[in-house]
Amino acid sequence: MKLKIAVLPGDGIGPEISVQGVNVIKAICNKFHHDVSFETALVGAAAIDATGNPFPEETYVICKEADAVFFSAVGDLRFDNSPDAKVRPEQGLLAMRKKLGLYANIRPIETFDCLIHKSPLKESFVKGADFICIRELTGGMYFGEKSEGDDKAYDVCIYSRGEVSRILEVAYKYARMRKRHLTVVDKANVLASSRLWRKTAKEMASRYPDIETDFMYVDNASMSIIQNPCFFDVIVTENTFGDILTDEASVITGSMGLLPSASIGEGTPVFEPIHGSWPQAAGKNIANPLAQILSAAMMFEYFGLSEEGRLIREAVNASLDEGIRTPDISENPDSVYGTKEVGEWIVSYIERR
Ligand code: IPM
Ligand code: MN
Repeated sequence: MKLKIAVLPGDGIGPEISVQGVNVIKAICNKFHHDVSFETALVGAAAIDATGNPFPEETYVICKEADAVFFSAVGDLRFDNSPDAKVRPEQGLLAMRKKLGLYANIRPIETFDCLIHKSPLKESFVKGADFICIRELTGGMYFGEKSEGDDKAYDVCIYSRGEVSRILEVAYKYARMRKRHLTVVDKANVLASSRLWRKTAKEMASRYPDIETDFMYVDNASMSIIQNPCFFDVIVTENTFGDILTDEASVITGSMGLLPSASIGEGTPVFEPIHGSWPQAAGKNIANPLAQILSAAMMFEYFGLSEEGRLIREAVNASLDEGIRTPDISENPDSVYGTKEVGEWIVSYIERR
C-alpha cells in the first residue's frame, strides 16, 4: 500500500514521541512492504512562534493531501495562564478538526493486566474494563457562537439533527463490531441540545434492534465509569461531555500515557495520543511514547491492515512484559528507560519478527 503521512509533532513532548512513532511506522512499512512517505508540518505553539497562526494554511494543505495525519500534542505554559492571549496553541487542534471535518473521535479505553495495579480503583472494579468512547468532535460549545465580554461571556451548545445522527451512525457501527451495547450519554433532563440527541437516538435505536441502546445522564455516567466501568461497551456523547469523560476514563485504567485515539469523518483521518503536551517534561527523554506508538496501530487498522496493527500491539505488550518502561509506569527504579530507548526497543522487536 502507498501511504502519505502528514506528521504534526506540535509542542512539549510532542516532537520526542513523534519521532518514536514515526520510526515504528517505518519499521512496519519496511517489514510489510508498504511504500510510505512523510511530510512534517507545524501546529500549536510551534506554529504560532513561526507564523502567528496555530494551524497555518500550509499545514492544512499538507494534511488535506495526506492519507493520514500523525499528530502528537499541542499546548505551552506561556499560554496556559494568560486568559487574554489572542491566539492559543489549542486553537490549532480545533481548527484542524473542523477544517478536515473530523466529527468523530474514537477513544478506546483498555486496561493492560500488567498495569492494573496502577489504577486508582480497586483491581476488582477495573479488571476487564474495555470500552470505547465515541466523542462528537466538531460541534457543541467548542464551536457554537461565542461572546467574551468583561462582565458576560457565553459559549452556545448547538447541534443539528444531522450532526447528531451521523455520529450515532458511527457509534452503531462500532457497537456492531463489539458487544452490541450502546450507551448514549447526555443531560436531557436539563439541556435542550441533549433532548435533540435523545430524540434522534431513540428514533435510530429502532433501526438497530440487534444493538441494546441505553441512555444515561452525564453526571450519572461519570459516576458509573468509576463504580462499574465494566458496564460499558460503546459510549457516544457530545463534544464537551466526551472531553471530560475520556480523561476520567483514561486514568481508571492506570495508564493514561498508553491510550491512543483516532479522529475520523470527511477528510484525512488523524491519529494521536489522548494525553497532552506535558511541557515540563519536554526534552528530558522521560515521556512515555506508547500512546503515540499505539496511535500508529490504530492508523494501520483504520486502513484495514490488521496484521500490521497487531504486530505493533504485540511489540508494545512485549516491552511492558520485559520491563522496558518509562518512569511513569516503571516498577523498578534501577531499570528505567527513556522515550528513545523504549521506541528503539519496539522497533528492534518489530525487525526481529
Ligand atoms: C483533547 C484535548 C483538546 C480538547 C484540547 C487540547 C483543545 O483536551 O483532545 O481532549 O479539549 O478537545
Ligand atoms: Mn481533553
